[in-house]
Amino acid sequence: MTRIALSLTINGQTHDVLAEPHRTLLDVLRTDLGLIGTKENCLEAECGVCTVLLEGAAVNACILLAAQCQGRAIVTIEGLAAPGQLHPLQRAFIDHGAVQCGYCIPGMILAAKAYLDTNPEPDGDGVREALAGNLCRCTGYQRIIDAVLSAARALRTSPPSQAAR
Ligand code: FES
Ligand code: FES
Repeated sequence: MTRIALSLTINGQTHDVLAEPHRTLLDVLRTDLGLIGTKENCLEAECGVCTVLLEGAAVNACILLAAQCQGRAIVTIEGLAAPGQLHPLQRAFIDHGAVQCGYCIPGMILAAKAYLDTNPEPDGDGVREALAGNLCRCTGYQRIIDAVLSAARALRTSPPSQAAR
């Protein structure tokens, strides 16, 4: 099949790839670019493990064509914080014991990031609703909710220049 040249902006860097028009962003991220922090599971927008940020909004990369993402800023879990650093959300998930097998966590954290960017003072119900599309089979969710609320507090008190993206 004919491949098309794509120029994708991921974590602030431009990546040129050749890909068939039907290929998803998730497939290109993992297979072509080695960004395997974005997980795959249901492939039909039901579980949220493939969540990335597209122009700041949380999207399911498994149902998004890579070709639809040209010229739009994509952030994966690998680009959430500067190398060697943790985003306050990542720190809070660790501190609250919100990570068990970890498979859902990249998507969960990016969905939370998109939510906190527009809702910096959330309550538990708001966080729960925002993360309703991200399934976790391990944690029972409460520790995840607690971690997101804690990260929201940390982000409010940290100077923006010190906060990760
Ligand atoms: S793999 Fe994309 S939502 Fe499940
Ligand atoms: S920590 Fe295992 S699926 Fe969420």
